[in-house]
Amino acid sequence: MVRFIYASLLAVAFSQLSHAATNNTINSQLRLAYAGNTGMYVSWNTFEKLDNPTVHYGLVPNDLNMTASSKVSVTYPTSLTYNNHVKITGLKPDTLYYYLPEHLLHMQSHCPYNFTTSRPAGQPEAFSVAVVVDLGTMGAQGLTTYAGTGVSVNNTLSPGEINTIQSLEKSKSGFDFVWHPGDIAYADYWLKEEIQGFLSNTTTAEGFHVYESILNDFYDEMTPITAFKPYMVGPGNHEANCDNGGTTDKAKNITYDVSICIPGQTNFTGYRNHFRMPSAESGGTGNFWYSFNHGMTHFVQVDTETDLGHGFTAPDEPGGVEGEDSGPFNTTLDAQTKWLEADLAGVNRTETPWVIVAGHRPWYLSHANASGTICWTCKDVFEPLYIKYGVDLVLSGHAHVYERQNPLANGIIDPAGLNNPKSPWYITNGAAGHYDGLDALQYPLQDYSRFGLDTLNKTYGWSRLTFHNYTHLTHEFVASKSGEVLDEATLYGEVHQM
Ligand SMILES: *[C@@H]1O[C@H](CO)[C@@H](O)[C@H](O)[C@H]1NC(C)=O
Ligand SMILES: *[C@@H]1O[C@H](CO)[C@@H](O)[C@H](O)[C@H]1NC(C)=O
Ligand SMILES: *[C@@H]1O[C@H](CO)[C@@H](O)[C@H](O)[C@H]1NC(C)=O
Ligand SMILES: *[C@@H]1O[C@H](CO)[C@@H](O)[C@H](O)[C@H]1NC(C)=O
Ligand SMILES: *[C@@H]1O[C@H](CO)[C@@H](O)[C@H](O)[C@H]1NC(C)=O
Ligand SMILES: *[C@@H]1O[C@H](CO)[C@@H](O)[C@H](O)[C@H]1NC(C)=O
Ligand SMILES: *[C@@H]1O[C@H](CO)[C@@H](O)[C@H](O)[C@H]1NC(C)=O
Ligand SMILES: *[C@@H]1O[C@H](CO)[C@@H](O)[C@H](O)[C@H]1NC(C)=O
Ligand SMILES: *[C@@H]1O[C@H](CO)[C@@H](O)[C@H](O)[C@H]1NC(C)=O
Ligand SMILES: *[C@@H]1O[C@H](CO)[C@@H](O)[C@H](O)[C@H]1NC(C)=O
Ligand SMILES: *[C@@H]1O[C@H](CO)[C@@H](O)[C@H](O)[C@H]1NC(C)=O
Ligand SMILES: *[C@@H]1O[C@H](CO)[C@@H](O)[C@H](O)[C@H]1NC(C)=O
Repeated sequence: MVRFIYASLLAVAFSQLSHAATNNTINSQLRLAYAGNTGMYVSWNTFEKLDNPTVHYGLVPNDLNMTASSKVSVTYPTSLTYNNHVKITGLKPDTLYYYLPEHLLHMQSHCPYNFTTSRPAGQPEAFSVAVVVDLGTMGAQGLTTYAGTGVSVNNTLSPGEINTIQSLEKSKSGFDFVWHPGDIAYADYWLKEEIQGFLSNTTTAEGFHVYESILNDFYDEMTPITAFKPYMVGPGNHEANCDNGGTTDKAKNITYDVSICIPGQTNFTGYRNHFRMPSAESGGTGNFWYSFNHGMTHFVQVDTETDLGHGFTAPDEPGGVEGEDSGPFNTTLDAQTKWLEADLAGVNRTETPWVIVAGHRPWYLSHANASGTICWTCKDVFEPLYIKYGVDLVLSGHAHVYERQNPLANGIIDPAGLNNPKSPWYITNGAAGHYDGLDALQYPLQDYSRFGLDTLNKTYGWSRLTFHNYTHLTHEFVASKSGEVLDEATLYGEVHQM
């Protein structure tokens, strides 16, 4: 192992900076993910393929005396970058490390970067997590103060309004990691943005360029957060969407062929290239389903988009309701639910009394059933396991609204409410924000609904989960524009701790 002094690394980095300064398209898209509590995935993008992606790291900032490398520098046709992935192993749990990817062209003021490994299972200290679903690119290629024709005035930002990415950045010292269960960047909206006259500098023939440029914007916008806090993701339909949210240009009377499906948005290709989630560490499958422990909590990501098994065609599979023609990703019969059952059955509730599951699509929601918003087949395959194994909280998005429900099972409201319920608690928060904003809840709200926000409230936001101790968990809806908590509820839970 070569001993690497930070000063020499800095010299290399500065020579790259002069190059970078002349090339404003350079980006890094630096992002982390837990790889067990003694490991960390470090991922970043470069314009060129790296033979040997390498990360220098250490316990003190001026002596990054260890290295980890891989051979993983991957791309796909039409992508503008390579995705580099290095897994660092042999780390101490709950420990702060400094790190810097070699060959990283992008320079910024926080150098070297730092991360903290995950808390060992059972550690009883309080911590918080940030959850966003349906978060798109902000700025000139996404959500901003204006939009194209057809977008509700209630869904654009006010001048100077703090968006969800900025709000997360301001709050990042207050959470351990960001969890994003699907709909990441909304780059697939490139055609919709063109058709609606929002992007006027592009052509459909160059669609891949626009798509990749929106993706690059998003991951760069997230870097001030994801270079320091693990970014745990799950699949959403917009990682595979090929209808671009509308394919008819009414003004020009053109209906585009749905086959304007460029490689990155086909079959989760961009998503599969971009991330490395800890499925190897948890027996899951790719970036689609996996679990990890962190302190008092067992976190589970499930896939509502493909691989539901049990004879169902999942929403994004060929013939599914979304028509995305994607997946499946595991050919073992009922692979996902078999894994989920074994995973939930294997949780040591003495160590990790809290079990939280996230999947992109909801089934308990005050929302019209149109166009697959409610996933009844997801309910069929997942809910029985959530009930059987005492899952405490189920998170989702997909509908661009916020709604907190009473704990419930099989549609029946748990009479205990949040005071030690036997049934899982459900919260949908798809209000993070993207190009065309928020949706409407369907009134009257469902009997089990306890609080809702929709497009009428003109408020983007994210969820903060705080695990106080083995019995108390608080969920807050944080309004991005003000940092104000618009809804707060605490679950007292003891019965699930077997
Ligand atoms: C920026 O640098 C990359 C990698 O060296 C190169 O491929 C790209 O063409 C450059 N772009 C500009 C605008 O100079
Ligand atoms: C790196 O430095 C740390 C102290 O900062 C030391 O504990 C560790 O043994 C060193 N590791 C190597 C491989 O030199
Ligand atoms: C880690 O990086 C963050 C973001 O730049 C910085 O605020 C923090 O001070 C760093 N932590 C340490 C211990 O250096
Ligand atoms: C199109 O315009 C947007 C917004 O000004 C800009 O961010 C983007 O880079 C441009 N795309 C191309 C392909 O020039
Ligand atoms: C749109 O185009 C179709 C043929 O492509 C034509 O039949 C129809 O009349 C056109 N509609 C309008 C409003 O021009
Ligand atoms: C498919 O699922 C099985 C059972 O959970 C697992 O052993 C296998 O590794 C998975 N396959 C892939 C390709 O991830
Ligand atoms: C999507 O990719 C997976 C993994 O490579 C493959 O097994 C599956 O057949 C692909 N689905 C489609 C519809 O091409
Ligand atoms: C569960 O965790 C507790 C606390 O760490 C430990 O004492 C116990 O042996 C574990 N149970 C099993 C079945 O591993
Ligand atoms: C959606 O449809 C299901 C079954 O078709 C029904 O039970 C449910 O009440 C409907 N939900 C809404 C919000 O209309
Ligand atoms: C925008 O919100 C206001 C209430 O805040 C509502 O009266 C109006 O109908 C909404 N407009 C649209 C297009 O949803
Ligand atoms: C959300 O908007 C609705 C409709 O305007 C209003 O009745 C409700 O009070 C608003 N909720 C909050 C928390 O502001
Ligand atoms: C757990 O945290 C809650 C909320 O802070 C607090 O009210 C309760 O007393 C704590 N319980 C224990 C056993 O510390």
